[in-house]
Amino acid sequence: MLFFEASFVRLLSVLYLLAVSVAEQQTLGYIDVDTPVAGVCECISGIVSNASAVYYPPSKEYTAGIRHWSATNSLNATCVVEPGTALDVVDMLGVLSVFRQPFAVKGGGHSCNPGFSSTAGVQISMTRLNQVTVNKAEGTVDIGAGAIWDDVYEALEPYGVMVAGGRIPGVGVGGFILGGGFSWKSNQYGLAIDTLVAIELVLPQGTVMQVTAADDDLWFGLKGGFNNFGIVTRFTLRSHPQTDVWAGLLLIAAIHLNEFNAAIVKFEANVKDTKASLAPAFVTTPILAAMLFYDGPSQPEGIFDDFLAIPTVNGEVHTQSFKSFMKSLAGLVAAAPGHRIYSAGVPVLGYPSAVIDTIYNETAFWAEHFAALDPTFAVTNALEPFDSGVFSHGSRSAYPPDRARALYPTNLAWAWTNASLDSAVHNALFQSARAIEAAATAEGQNLSNAATYANYALFGLPLEDIYGEHLPRLRGIKKKYDPSGIMDLAGGFKF
Ligand SMILES: Cc1cc2nc3c(=O)[nH]c(=O)nc-3n(C[C@H](O)[C@H](O)[C@H](O)COP(=O)(O)OP(=O)(O)OC[C@H]3O[C@@H](n4cnc5c(N)ncnc54)[C@H](O)[C@@H]3O)c2cc1C
Ligand SMILES: *[C@@H]1O[C@H](CO)[C@@H](O)[C@H](O)[C@H]1NC(C)=O
Ligand SMILES: *[C@@H]1O[C@H](CO)[C@@H](O)[C@H](O)[C@H]1NC(C)=O
Ligand SMILES: *[C@@H]1O[C@H](CO)[C@@H](O)[C@H](O)[C@H]1NC(C)=O
Ligand SMILES: *[C@@H]1O[C@H](CO)[C@@H](O)[C@H](O)[C@H]1NC(C)=O
Ligand SMILES: *[C@@H]1O[C@H](CO)[C@@H](O)[C@H](O)[C@H]1NC(C)=O
Repeated sequence: MLFFEASFVRLLSVLYLLAVSVAEQQTLGYIDVDTPVAGVCECISGIVSNASAVYYPPSKEYTAGIRHWSATNSLNATCVVEPGTALDVVDMLGVLSVFRQPFAVKGGGHSCNPGFSSTAGVQISMTRLNQVTVNKAEGTVDIGAGAIWDDVYEALEPYGVMVAGGRIPGVGVGGFILGGGFSWKSNQYGLAIDTLVAIELVLPQGTVMQVTAADDDLWFGLKGGFNNFGIVTRFTLRSHPQTDVWAGLLLIAAIHLNEFNAAIVKFEANVKDTKASLAPAFVTTPILAAMLFYDGPSQPEGIFDDFLAIPTVNGEVHTQSFKSFMKSLAGLVAAAPGHRIYSAGVPVLGYPSAVIDTIYNETAFWAEHFAALDPTFAVTNALEPFDSGVFSHGSRSAYPPDRARALYPTNLAWAWTNASLDSAVHNALFQSARAIEAAATAEGQNLSNAATYANYALFGLPLEDIYGEHLPRLRGIKKKYDPSGIMDLAGGFKF
């Protein structure tokens, strides 16, 4: 379905007048606009409806608008714009395309890659578009693209329904879905993109479009293609009933590595119940961590017994609401202010014991190496085993390029504070990813065409390594819907 917006014609005429008047006023020195970006901020401010707003430093809205999870993806924008309607997003993109100034689109701001959702230009913060609407009869939920998953779980709890969303508090709906979306529910329902029913998209050329499976190219491209095709204002996801869950986090001393390793191997080999999900991690304290999740109100027999038999330092698993489980993880991810974080993905076909040992060694090795240079350096290397059918639930999408076999997306997330270490950490992450791949290859895994998960990919990774054989098609779709490259004024993996 395609809606042509009459407002776009109005926009173009207003833009023409504004362009003249900003330039004139600049010459005459009437307004304090000394850069083209500042002019764009003024223009947007003049043109949008009262549902939207433009903010400058030092307002608290500006400060919140430029805030990101990692300092590596955090810049002082010239202004923050908060769109309140899709039509105002049309107008914003119209102004940006006329003046061709840099901008960024921020959902939850959790990308660590420099400039992916931050900019020195116009920071579009989607935060006002955070409405969550349950469509009971249809079995779907509409979610504003500026929501964070915490908002979604809060809103859904009274309805007893759930969607396939983020596993950790604070993550944004926008980037999570547009990059794929591995959820606690993925073993049952696939990636978040596999549960999409519709996407409301503002195209770079000024139309608001309800993209559905009927729109072959955009439907394919948006599912893993981030901000290449425009700005998404709303997602409609399929929902399912939600009971209480049996879930929690265990922290285990490193001396129990062998039992921990064996428990992961056994889980992967034996567990076929797709309601069960496991997320182990090696964290430099050093500590072994494991999030256990069962999508039912009581402890499943047998599945997690080996983990529960290991003595813990802290943590517990119990029956609780989904929202309460999410809330319990908040402390886990409270990154220190100013922390720089890069994250890399390492696709593997499974976690045999030798690969687990390698990931543990990589954790200890790089933690020691960088702690000598920056005492705040910390590693979280997460193993992400999923069901072997995890990619079987959806239709063709930008990511993953191959749905024939499951790939486990392994996430390396390293944090530090001294900015002069940035490039050394960047290099070391790629080196560490190669060491883990080599260990998996030595165990007989054929990783020659294994795609890195789009949401974990570290900047600098060739796009072929994420999108594989889909890249030529994605480049074609991009040319068709964004012929003048307006979305290239925003950062990210660009087709
Ligand atoms: C603590 C933590 C936990 C995580 N847990 C998981 C997990 O369980 N599963 C998983 O799959 N991933 C997980 N991730 C990765 C996460 O999915 C990505 O970082 C994701 O891109 C974050 O989305 P965001 O909206 O917060 O990020 P942002 O940085 O705001 O956006 C990321 C990218 O998407 C684009 N984008 C965002 N919104 C829009 C929009 N409305 N229209 C167009 N483009 C848009 C941005 O421009 C940017 O390029 C986690 C990350 C962190 C830091
Ligand atoms: C916004 O504008 C509409 C009409 O365009 C008006 O009805 C509404 O009261 C305004 N809201 C605010 C908060 O000013
Ligand atoms: C952003 O502005 C703050 C406060 O003025 C300053 O401390 C910080 O260094 C600036 N950051 C960047 C990346 O320019
Ligand atoms: C641990 O990792 C480092 C860095 O990859 C490597 O040099 C070293 O050989 C590894 N040690 C073991 C015991 O595997
Ligand atoms: C940051 O690292 C650089 C290079 O390793 C070092 O010279 C500098 O002293 C460090 N700064 C701080 C504050 O530790
Ligand atoms: C590895 O897999 C690719 C396809 O993904 C295939 O082309 C190649 O022949 C395989 N290599 C081996 C050694 O099996």
